[in-house]
Amino acid sequence: MEYQTGMSEQIRKQISTELSTLLAESYALYLKVQDFHWNVTGPGFFGLHIFFEKQYQDLAEALDEIAERIRALGFFVEGSFSAFQKLSSLKEEKGKQPKEAMLKHLIEGHESVIRLLRSLNALADKEKDFATTELLSKRLLIHEKFAWMARSELSS
Ligand SMILES: [Fe+2]
Repeated sequence: MEYQTGMSEQIRKQISTELSTLLAESYALYLKVQDFHWNVTGPGFFGLHIFFEKQYQDLAEALDEIAERIRALGFFVEGSFSAFQKLSSLKEEKGKQPKEAMLKHLIEGHESVIRLLRSLNALADKEKDFATTELLSKRLLIHEKFAWMARSELSS
């Protein structure tokens, strides 16, 4: 059956493609923060362990919402590890990281997602796809909040 939602297939495809990049970047950040949750050590361990847990729990829910938005727009989700790796720009850290480096890498990750959110929002807003813009706004709020919290942990 044809989609009669007032958005052309081309526009739905364009938004879905950008959502796929957002999904991959969010997935990479999810893996990173869970890795840090497991491996953080030193003074302040417990607070950071919990802080990282809150982030990956939030991201796990967001991944599902982003992927299901792609489905609602009429496209399949590229949900494989290799697809995520291809679309994500986040670098992997090798070996054990000190907690300051973990926080710095997380700020970079959140900010990378934030830039994708802004760019996709411009397109979704232009096309009056307010279901997508609402999802993006929710994500912007939480990524900026986590980035602020990580910055506050780092500053003396
Ligand atoms: Fe845990």
